[in-house]
Amino acid sequence: MKSTRYSEKVLDHFRNPRNVGTLKGEDVGTGRVGNPVCGDLMELYIKVKNNKIKDVKFRTFGCGSAIATASMVTELAKGKSIDEAIKITRKDVADELDGLPPIKMHCSNLAADALKDAIKNYKDKQKLKVEVKEEIREHKEEITGEKKFLNRGVYNIVKDFSLFKDKRTLVLDRGDKSIEIAIELTKHTPRVVFVTPLKDISANTNLKTELKQSDVKILYESKILEIKGLNEVEKVLIYDLNEDEKYELYIDSVVLLL
Ligand code: FES
Repeated sequence: MKSTRYSEKVLDHFRNPRNVGTLKGEDVGTGRVGNPVCGDLMELYIKVKNNKIKDVKFRTFGCGSAIATASMVTELAKGKSIDEAIKITRKDVADELDGLPPIKMHCSNLAADALKDAIKNYKDKQKLKVEVKEEIREHKEEITGEKKFLNRGVYNIVKDFSLFKDKRTLVLDRGDKSIEIAIELTKHTPRVVFVTPLKDISANTNLKTELKQSDVKILYESKILEIKGLNEVEKVLIYDLNEDEKYELYIDSVVLLL
């Protein structure tokens, strides 16, 4: 196909693609789509603040038209609210580029679909964050074995820290108080594990720093599914939300604050 069939704008965005790269962070949504017509791939990242797209990047294993359309999509999306950006259509992208050869129209699907996927991913992430915070606040889920071992390895309050001397102790994230307890426990036992379903610690900066600098081992994005043992606590079943994997951890005590 002759290059003259491409508009000047397409050629410009192909030769000098804008916003190439990746983004990371809590406030980033990632879109990944494959083109069913040609099998090419596109990744698009949006960084959102106050519901507006503050930054956007892409990378692709697509053709020149895919590069040009992705570059144009990033330009169109930047600064828009996520509700406005989700309305950007394949046709809008092609029109902004002064058209694409008909045989290349499917390439513009990749960029527009990746943007939609990134917005969906961002919204899902925010929803999950709210649900997890609710869960921490309300302690919605009862853990299997919690009642069976109550006060025999499972504790809803901690008064006497000497009870935990040299015991492998696991503390579930139930807010600031649980973080303070985990830090204090390190004075009594060398093995303290803090389990949180969040990606990062949700606490004031000082407490967060203190926890991270302490000897507490933190398991992020994890939940306790079950506390196991015969007459006393022997292990817990952990679910890694990120890896979608379950595994057991040998432990003597579990602190589940009320
Ligand atoms: Fe695959 Fe254009 S040919 S994206």
